[in-house]
Amino acid sequence: MTAIDSVSKKFANVQSSYPIDNLKLLEWVTEAAALCQPDRVYWCDGSEEEYNRLCQEMVDAGTFIRLNQAKRPNSYLARSAPSDVARVEDRTFVCTKIKEDSGPNNNWMEPETAKIILKDFFKGSMRGRTMYVVPFSMGPLGSPLSQIGVEITDSPYVVVNMKHMTRMGKKVVELLGTDSSFVPCMHSVGHPLDPKEKDVAWPCNPEHKYICHFPETKEIWSYGSGYGGNALLGKKCLALRIASSLGKKEGWLAEHMLILGVKSPTGEKCYVAAAFPSACGKTNFAMLIPPSSFKGWEVTTVGDDIAWIRPGKDGKFYAINPEAGFFGVAPGTSAKTNPNALATLGKNCIFTNVALTPDGDVWWEGLSDEAPAELIDWQGRNWIPDCGRKAAHPNSRFTVPIDQCPSLDDQWDNLEGVPISAFVFGGRRPSVIPLAFQSINWDFGVYMAATMGSETTAAAVGKVGEVRRDPMAMLPFCGYHMGDYFDHWLKMGHMVQNPPRVFCVNWFRTDHNGKIIWPGFGENMRVLKWISDRVHGKAGAAQTFLGFMPRHKDIDWTGIEKFTPEQFDDLMHIDKEKWHRELESHDELFNRLNERMPRELMLIREMLNLSLVRDMSDQS
Ligand code: GTP
Ligand code: SPV
Ligand code: MN
Repeated sequence: MTAIDSVSKKFANVQSSYPIDNLKLLEWVTEAAALCQPDRVYWCDGSEEEYNRLCQEMVDAGTFIRLNQAKRPNSYLARSAPSDVARVEDRTFVCTKIKEDSGPNNNWMEPETAKIILKDFFKGSMRGRTMYVVPFSMGPLGSPLSQIGVEITDSPYVVVNMKHMTRMGKKVVELLGTDSSFVPCMHSVGHPLDPKEKDVAWPCNPEHKYICHFPETKEIWSYGSGYGGNALLGKKCLALRIASSLGKKEGWLAEHMLILGVKSPTGEKCYVAAAFPSACGKTNFAMLIPPSSFKGWEVTTVGDDIAWIRPGKDGKFYAINPEAGFFGVAPGTSAKTNPNALATLGKNCIFTNVALTPDGDVWWEGLSDEAPAELIDWQGRNWIPDCGRKAAHPNSRFTVPIDQCPSLDDQWDNLEGVPISAFVFGGRRPSVIPLAFQSINWDFGVYMAATMGSETTAAAVGKVGEVRRDPMAMLPFCGYHMGDYFDHWLKMGHMVQNPPRVFCVNWFRTDHNGKIIWPGFGENMRVLKWISDRVHGKAGAAQTFLGFMPRHKDIDWTGIEKFTPEQFDDLMHIDKEKWHRELESHDELFNRLNERMPRELMLIREMLNLSLVRDMSDQS
């Protein structure tokens, strides 16, 4: 009798089309089944056939709407419960033995206590449902940089999304062999069904949600939500929170960064990794199409959300994208702003919370200048322009395999990763931060990244329009104390001979009317070219108290319409008074991090203050 047979005997209704010989995995799944009491256990194989079957089952259950096969082949629309539309940061916990280790940047629960609470919620949570076992790899199958996870979930929506977002299925179990380990990821929507109870289209638990991480034992438990980063546990939970904590121990970095390649007409190519907070333009930047005047320049996509970065033998950092798909923001994506994304979405897509057109296609704000005359909105209600509601939810998203992206880099799944020449950091800052500048050295770059901020958007708690400090765009995703994280960043840069150059950008500066000055999107190529040229020692810059700043003559303006040198000056202007206040608010962040705040960064803070005071007296 094989191991799976003996487990099947313990638990009657198990279905697997392939052998499972990893005892730890079998034991864990058996235990989970005993706890959650599903009607069936199903081991996912990751095949097309399985994907199509689950999608059809969801169409039958009313969870999915099949889109017009001619316009959007093999694609579906899902509408979530209105209470389950985004990550829930206030219900996200990092459970470490010592509270201080999770840091003021995380909600905390004592691990044993958290487990008791969670087990209580998971007890019987899958009654009336199928428990899916989803083996997945973050990173290329078999790469030494990859991490294997297994998600247990009662949501078929999660299964089909994981199929796009990760390398998923039977191959991963084969790779695990008899005794390799994996990150166990428990997920339940928290909506058990009584016998004869009819299911809803989007089951979740409106009252109780817990997204819990146990970095010390490498486990994830998520309860109550079926949406995005709360439920697709390979993404933010494993690839950022657990991985960042692992990286700290093992000497690497897990970052909220896109990775792109940029090639000049003479064939010089470099890779850039950029951290922007959620909904601040990573997907757009990763798929940038240069303006037509930039003949011979080419931008290619390695990833749009997460980068795992390690020192290579040659003294450079190497990065992989651990994901295999995009879970991107739909609103604002159009043929004008991001043609590559639009092309990627032509087929095999899952759309969540966008609007439905009368002919069975999708629409969202910004897709076209004019909205269709009638739509069904993201909550299934009739919608007409000027009805005062948004047709698509602002955090509506698409899920799609990465290999459908026309700008995909040919090295995107290289087992060793791609060498990184530059790090770019940027938030949504209506004032203070100039369009672009380069840090004078690594430590100063870490300081700038550590103090980056962004205007709050709907996804985060807080007043819209406030600046929230979001160090390295990792505030919601760093799985340990932010002070230790800064220290780790400082050390990593000194570990390698050629650390990447560090740049800051801000696409979102506004004029006195509150209008965004910089045209953005494809025009960001002008800044990217300056960055690439700086990396190759080619572009000029002025030295200021922030480091190297491009002057008007340092940027390539060929082919731009309606953008004046005065506007450029506005974008680059350093307002000393505002910077004074900015530095004061850096203090607030540093004070919160307290004893674990690295000395080096405190010293840079002092130095900046001094040079600002000196510059100010120069002016007067
Ligand atoms: P997550 O997936 O949440 O991590 O977000 P992301 O960083 O990938 O964000 P995305 O690229 O999807 O951009 C979200 C929003 O930013 C959209 O509304 C875009 O229109 C807007 N955006 C992106 N790039 C630019 C830009 O260069 N300028 C301006 N003004 N807006 C931009
Ligand atoms: C983000 O919020 O940064 C995302 C979306 O990428 S989610 O996967 O839901 O976290
Ligand atoms: Mn993200």
